[in-house]
Amino acid sequence: MAYVALYRKWRPKTFEDVVGQRQITETLQKAIIMDKVAHAYLFSGPRGTGKTSTAKIFARAVNCEQGTKGHPCNTCEICRHIMRGESLDVVEIDAASNRSIEDIRTLRETVKFMPAEGKKRFTLLMKYICLRSKRLMLCLKPWKNRRHMLFLF
Ligand SMILES: Nc1ncnc2c1ncn2[C@@H]1O[C@H](COP(=O)(O)OP(=O)(O)OP(=O)(O)O)[C@@H](O)[C@H]1O
Ligand SMILES: [Mg+2]
Ligand SMILES: [Zn+2]
Repeated sequence: MAYVALYRKWRPKTFEDVVGQRQITETLQKAIIMDKVAHAYLFSGPRGTGKTSTAKIFARAVNCEQGTKGHPCNTCEICRHIMRGESLDVVEIDAASNRSIEDIRTLRETVKFMPAEGKKRFTLLMKYICLRSKRLMLCLKPWKNRRHMLFLF
């Protein structure tokens, strides 16, 4: 049997699966339903509280073509690509190991592409706490009004 890392096997797949973060998941769902998705979201909290999981559910909920609004179907091609980590529209960057000015420049070069299959392209900047705030701003500012880009920290 193929080995699947535990954190992937048990990663919550719907907003309802995310335990103890109802306020957050409801806010995110409402934003999708009301077409008021912001261009950046900052998730902060202790390790293993669901930040990455929520970000990935959110990416699916926004880009999914079949689910009811605010709920990813988790079965369409777009959802499946995101769940397998194969979607070109969801890029994960670990800020802990990519935090030089040069890395941020590369990031700026790569985030500007249009989405490949979904409505929006997501950049998940993990461990953003490792970036100096100036660098974080440098990385966000130019894209404030670009609707197809979404950053999740
Ligand atoms: N709120 C939650 N509800 C259900 N399961 C959770 C929740 N938070 C974490 N888990 C479990 O822990 C695993 C890791 O969670 P996740 O990667 O989303 O945490 P994180 O907040 O991004 O942590 P880190 O700060 O280390 O990046 C998930 O795959 C899931 O099994
Ligand atoms: Mg995480
Ligand atoms: Zn779907």
